[in-house]
Amino acid sequence: MSTAVIVGAQWGDEGKGKVIDYLAKKADLVVRGQGGNNAGHTVVVGDKKYALHLIPSGVLYEDTLNIIGNGVVIDPEGFLKEIDGLNEKGVKTDHIYISDRAHVVMPYHKEIDRLSEELRGEKKIGTTQKGIGPCYMDKVERTGIRIVDLISDKIETIIRERVAYKNFLIEKLYESPPLDVDKIVEDYLKYAQRIKPFVRDTGVIVYNALQEGKKVLLEGAQGTMLDIDYGTYPYVTSSHPISGGFAIGSGIGPNMIEEVLGIAKAYTTRVGSGPFVTELFDETGDLIREKGHEYGTTTGRARRCGWFDAVAVRYSARVNGMTSVALMLLDVLSGFEEVKICTGYQYKDQVIMDFPSSLDVLDECEPIYETIKGWDEDITEATTFEELPVNAQRYVRKIEEIINVPVKIISIGPKRSQTIMIGEIF
Ligand code: GDP
Ligand code: IMO
Ligand code: MG
Repeated sequence: MSTAVIVGAQWGDEGKGKVIDYLAKKADLVVRGQGGNNAGHTVVVGDKKYALHLIPSGVLYEDTLNIIGNGVVIDPEGFLKEIDGLNEKGVKTDHIYISDRAHVVMPYHKEIDRLSEELRGEKKIGTTQKGIGPCYMDKVERTGIRIVDLISDKIETIIRERVAYKNFLIEKLYESPPLDVDKIVEDYLKYAQRIKPFVRDTGVIVYNALQEGKKVLLEGAQGTMLDIDYGTYPYVTSSHPISGGFAIGSGIGPNMIEEVLGIAKAYTTRVGSGPFVTELFDETGDLIREKGHEYGTTTGRARRCGWFDAVAVRYSARVNGMTSVALMLLDVLSGFEEVKICTGYQYKDQVIMDFPSSLDVLDECEPIYETIKGWDEDITEATTFEELPVNAQRYVRKIEEIINVPVKIISIGPKRSQTIMIGEIF
């Protein structure tokens, strides 16, 4: 296999950063294809912890090219802060390229993200307020600014024109003070100078690497259940976190994608608003949150927690064409008397097996659980599947059976060493 896509199988934060970092030692390229710095991917190496937002999670390997593809939306300020932060920690960043076709997140995107959320009131999406939705809106409306524009000599004119229009909206529609255009011009001219050396036609680089038989890891951000088409709309993000998103966001054709590795937590979490059928509102939910340190990498918000939802992950397996699964944070479930897997949804007198589109239906769905005996042992030092307690093995096998995709990786802690490989990925 020379191309593997790593996708979030749930609502994000499944541990994609850990898996990418783990697999990146074998990869020639790691490529992001959608989202922006709404992502927060954690990589733990020894006693150091890295929270990556825009920069791909292969950055710690100097021989691996790290590419931010055309489908990503780039906040230059966020990008440069991340570069500086990594450099301060002694991490080199000259093996990072960004696509000339990627769109630029502007201050008005962030402001409109914030103002729109305020307007939505109780119905707010709970966005990360990084300007992601408004930036993708402009891209689709054909008024976006691309990296190629940012580094051109026309950028000042472009910014002045766009800010005038957005300020009109901010003042008249949102009744909020306008943004300072001179400050934006000054900042973005500086960003442009610093960003220029990173810019390439990255699609060509990815394509050529594949032609040469190199190994390419495609790093998904967010998760399938946050996909703009397949997620719990409108409580979703504004891009395609599924495997197909890479055929658009990285510059290669769909036939070049081989392995599709879905990353799933051994339970479920979600940040922000929206349906969550297996959500736990009791002390079990609190215990999972505390044991799993379930607080957002990007916003610090407490994550909502619940049992493993196999209806959602089976759906996710289908829409991604998943060929394997990495089951993450299994260690967090040690110590529970019993663990539960949701195998179907009870909706009135019907049993639903395929994830429904209607939020009204989801609202009334009750989880149907299969209960498995728990295990008490600390599993964070296990090195093989056989070393896991029998009930933990049963739990993994049961999930595998219900979602009908082989589990090839089991993660039992945040560190690289706390990874059990059951099959080859790459
Ligand atoms: P991502 O957005 O999918 O990359 O996931 P995040 O980094 O936002 O959240 C996953 C969190 O779980 C991070 O704090 C990781 O360090 C941590 N983590 C990853 N795998 C494991 C695991 O197997 N066990 C435990 N206890 N923590 C893990
Ligand atoms: P990673 O890559 C979890 C959620 C937000 C909100 C919704 C829309 O770390 O898994 P947005 O700012 O994208 O318009 O917010 O999507 N969200 C994430 N949740 N992990 C993420 O990324 C997320 N990125 C966005 O909380 O509910
Ligand atoms: Mg995250």
